[in-house]
Amino acid sequence: MCGIIGYVGRNSVLDILLDGLKQLEYRGYDSSGVALKCGDKIEVYKAVGKLNNLRDKLEPHRKNLLDAKMGIGHIRWATHGAPTIVNAHPQTCNCGRLVVVHNGIIENYKELRAKLEKEGCVFKSQTDTETVAHLVAQIYEKTQNLTQAVALATKELEGAYALAIMHNNEPNTLVVTKRNAPLVIGVADDGYYAASDVPAFIKHSNKAIYMKDNEIATLTPDSLTIQDGNGNEVTPKIEQLPWEPVALSKMGYKHFMLKEIHEQPDVIRNILTGKLHTSDSPIVLEEVKLTKDILKNLSRIQIIACGTSLHAGMIGKYLIESLCQIPVDVEASSEYIYRDTVTDKNTLVIGVSQSGETADTLTAIRQAKAKGSHVLIITNRPDSAMAREADSLLSVNAGIEVSVAATKSYIAQLTSFYLLAIYLAEVKESANKEDLIKLKSEMLAIPQKIEQILSHKDDIQNCAKKYSGTRDFIYIARGINYPTALEGALKLKEISYINATGYPAGELKHGPIAMLDDTMPVLSVLMHGRVYEKILSNSEEAKARNARMIALTNSIDPKLDDLFEYIIRVPEVDDMLSPLIAIVPLQLIAYYIAEFLGKDVDQPRNLAKSVTVE
Ligand code: F6R
Repeated sequence: MCGIIGYVGRNSVLDILLDGLKQLEYRGYDSSGVALKCGDKIEVYKAVGKLNNLRDKLEPHRKNLLDAKMGIGHIRWATHGAPTIVNAHPQTCNCGRLVVVHNGIIENYKELRAKLEKEGCVFKSQTDTETVAHLVAQIYEKTQNLTQAVALATKELEGAYALAIMHNNEPNTLVVTKRNAPLVIGVADDGYYAASDVPAFIKHSNKAIYMKDNEIATLTPDSLTIQDGNGNEVTPKIEQLPWEPVALSKMGYKHFMLKEIHEQPDVIRNILTGKLHTSDSPIVLEEVKLTKDILKNLSRIQIIACGTSLHAGMIGKYLIESLCQIPVDVEASSEYIYRDTVTDKNTLVIGVSQSGETADTLTAIRQAKAKGSHVLIITNRPDSAMAREADSLLSVNAGIEVSVAATKSYIAQLTSFYLLAIYLAEVKESANKEDLIKLKSEMLAIPQKIEQILSHKDDIQNCAKKYSGTRDFIYIARGINYPTALEGALKLKEISYINATGYPAGELKHGPIAMLDDTMPVLSVLMHGRVYEKILSNSEEAKARNARMIALTNSIDPKLDDLFEYIIRVPEVDDMLSPLIAIVPLQLIAYYIAEFLGKDVDQPRNLAKSVTVE
């Protein structure tokens, strides 16, 4: 949830840290800080709020700091203690000679803190991280070796951490380590980088070492040594990174979110390439590592995910059950891990995650693996912890998603579910061949239909403007688009802070209808197909309570004009594929409302893109 960066080498470290933190802002942005080794001192600077506040604070000192060639930095998403200067990282020991930045949670910090306080340590912050600073410093006093001190201290830590640590007595040494939190080392001619994620250093190095749990790396300008949890030296595996820095530019769009919404047609095309050639050839999905015999006999599937990925999973359930007749359960990972889940080796477990680092989902898939289930991961990050745990890996290749609100990664997950469901149906021969050919043919046309919607976005912008003054918003849908309603509502609440809720339209009369009056916008996802008439009736019921009715529809029926005060029209599409189309206007409504209200679209308050705490 926080981002860390460290550098030791021959270049000036200040901008390496600040630019790196900028790329990690998606992990948190409520405060930030850096520590730089300047001559015989370590200088620490921190600021509350966005990274620009830290930049402003550093500006008057810039000249004096440019000579520093080793440093660490942190961007925070508060877990222990409010976002204040004292709680911001780097955290320091009593004498200030040791500095540490940390992503994760030290679960036994209370016991450690009590013990350290008894031994004379004076704590300044409410953070769990400060215990690490005192603990390592205390051990360092005895060992006079930073790597050894970190190795001994981490044996006492419980929980999750990625740590970067410097001591003033070791002018050229940076020590980094991790457990249950991501940490990558960048190898470059000018020195070594370490960060929570590769965008933090990709403009300096595209050679990366993904650290494993409990490994400790000692970095100097000219050397890198990695030891495992038992103190044995390991040979690092250096990987070439595929991403280009250009992926992180807004390319002329006002926000990353708007750019990412516009990338969706190409994201779908990308995923289909090589997997869906023509409508009458079968889907190629070599990523699924189960034999066809096992697939034919699968008795059950469980899908586990959080947030937007969970909504993609709900649509996945609908598709797999309809096309393959395999029972599918979908559950929020955070619930899955704290009950006695029934799973076994005959269950295929599908974990869905944009980041591949979400702690709840990671724990859930580890639990399922321990029970013998085959785990298939659908993720946008083939380099993530979840990808490394996967028995089968479906990489969605949407490219880096910078905006905290997930858009293109959602459409990529959905597309992957369509491919998977059709693939399973073809293997099992569980669906009518002609129907599958039609579905695949329509699937190939989806990117163009989304482009059509994007070319009429002014209409959606007008709709957003009309309803931007509202306090609440209701989305209704049925069947395969019920998760679309949930996702539309989630997008709106997370970036505009409007209280938005998605309901199955048939449930409205069982309670929520009591909320309706002439101040309440109700958006009906009214797509042609099995439940069209039903949603139409539910919309009539809402209209009868004076709700302000909006339709998102592919119907051109003129009767709708009397029922709805605003109609957003989308292209005609097969009922089963309609979630790929219907979500796009809902993403745009959320975007334009937030933008109109002047909200921080790409970095909404209280959120972070990668949620590495349970
Ligand atoms: C919403 C959003 C979150 C994430 C959720 C899971 O726009 O981004 O709801 O979907 O935190 O994250 P991942 O997919 O990375 O596991």
